[in-house]
Amino acid sequence: MLMASLVVLHLLAALVWVGGMFFAHTALRPTAASVLQPPERLTLISGVFGRFFIWVKGAILVLFISGFGLIHFLGNFGKLGWYVHTMLLIAVVMTVIFAYIYGGPFRMLKSAVAAKDWPTGGLALAKIRPLIFTNLILGLITVAIGAGGRYL
Ligand code: HEM
Repeated sequence: MLMASLVVLHLLAALVWVGGMFFAHTALRPTAASVLQPPERLTLISGVFGRFFIWVKGAILVLFISGFGLIHFLGNFGKLGWYVHTMLLIAVVMTVIFAYIYGGPFRMLKSAVAAKDWPTGGLALAKIRPLIFTNLILGLITVAIGAGGRYL
């Protein structure tokens, strides 16, 4: 029962984080770029990220707690497959990238929107975009490794 709960929490957290990035990158961003002018677009994206990032922080917490819980119940870390080590390593890289986005360009975007400084806001968004794309690719790889790794 505990094991099942940990796996479910782990998967839900991965779904929220990776699925949210997939939606933002493939649907929200291109549509906002094509139909909105900078003031509306930057205000929208800043608000969307502000709300989404609260969930990302929660998802990261749940992923690490449930991940280490799973490691604890599956046996010691050294005995686990390469894919668990890889998953943990990529998750750490993704968390560092997220922390950088949150403390750097996202903060810059928020204050630019508050000051109605659209050129600076555009600059901040241009920094955020490739970082979210990187995390999206890493997240998709991690899901593939986590789900399929044990059968390799
Ligand atoms: C972005 C971050 C992560 C993603 C997307 C992710 C994804 C996944 C997925 C899809 C599974 C398969 C679950 C199943 O079908 O049973 C899984 C299992 C697992 N994950 Fe993660 N994970 C992430 C982070 C972590 C972290 C940080 C840890 C360790 C602290 C961890 C440890 C584990 C363990 C131990 C399993 C079970 C492996 C097994 O049953 O053989 N994961 N993960």
